[in-house]
Amino acid sequence: MSHELPPHWSANKIALEKPTGEAGGLPAAAYWSADFLALENERLFARNWICIGLAEDVPAPGSLHPVMAAGKALILARDLAGELRVFHNFCRHRGMRLVDAARADAKAIICPYHAWSYGLDGALLKTPHVAGIDRHDRAALPRTLPGLAPVRHAVWGPLVFADLSGAAAPFAEHMGPLMRRWAAYDFAMLRRGATLHYEIACNWKLVIENFIDLYHVPYVHPSLNGYCAMKDHYLVHDNDVFMGQGLNAYAPEDGAVGALPAFPGAPPGAASFMDAFGVFPNLCMTLFHDNLRVIIVEPDGPTRTRERVEVFFVGRGATDPALAEARAVLVERFGAFNAEDIGVVEKLQRSHESSAFDGGHFTPVLDGAVHRFHRLVASAVDVSP
Ligand code: FES
Ligand SMILES: [Fe+2]
Repeated sequence: MSHELPPHWSANKIALEKPTGEAGGLPAAAYWSADFLALENERLFARNWICIGLAEDVPAPGSLHPVMAAGKALILARDLAGELRVFHNFCRHRGMRLVDAARADAKAIICPYHAWSYGLDGALLKTPHVAGIDRHDRAALPRTLPGLAPVRHAVWGPLVFADLSGAAAPFAEHMGPLMRRWAAYDFAMLRRGATLHYEIACNWKLVIENFIDLYHVPYVHPSLNGYCAMKDHYLVHDNDVFMGQGLNAYAPEDGAVGALPAFPGAPPGAASFMDAFGVFPNLCMTLFHDNLRVIIVEPDGPTRTRERVEVFFVGRGATDPALAEARAVLVERFGAFNAEDIGVVEKLQRSHESSAFDGGHFTPVLDGAVHRFHRLVASAVDVSP
């Protein structure tokens, strides 16, 4: 099936390429068109490193966990030797979906259609009746049958990334700028402390754009602005990997302050640092001296989005019962701001679908990160197939 870019796309593209203060944004159709999402799946999500879940989703040998990525069904697996694997979730015989639900201690993956089985390392094991009734041996077949189709993947701290194309730059090179920025924070110390799921009635891009938008903070989050003021932030959008805002004066005044263990290597003053970045394309990460919060953003059709929020703490910060209240305060604080943001993005969605809005205007300074994100999306989808 061929998918079309929206009408007047070239004019939008030209407007997007202008300096931020003169530029226009993505057309409204990019936020509701199924064609546009199909192009994003094919050219943007399938050709970039995208976050697909957590290493902890497959905690032990024999764990299986199905996920969707770039509109394709994948399996996260922990093989019997303990290695994390990612496969396409289809059987090599006639394409049956193999794994529908997460499992622990699987010994093999057995196709529900004709019972071919695969090892957790992807190797094809049994192929009943493959050479005729009661003839299970593949040796007589005219060709060798393959195992599960592997997907290129990488693990960074608690996160798993996939590159469905197999052709993106090496992960460490791609993520290098952000890994270097956060090199003092040892992600190996992170432990999961809380998980939240949201289903939001908006296009996935509005979630990311709102996350990297600093401009709305005083108006949408007046309480946050009290200790995390717009004037104390600086914008980051000088690269194609992460964009958003940093802060050197973070100073909340509730029960979570100072209670939780910090990263041992965090630099002096880190208690008042915050980095909040959209990691292109589908991840938001907020790093503090004592926790990392990630939002894995997954389109569910062009006008719906799933958010998987994971809050990680440092070492015993995630589990120590004496710190339960400090963790709860921090998670509740996030939940309250996220509810305010969801109110905004759902209204933005309705407006993009039902008004004459088409692209908007960026302000030269405060819209720099959103403009960069729009340009990255536009240049990803606007390539020949
Ligand atoms: S489709 Fe899987 S065994 Fe036939
Ligand atoms: Fe917000």
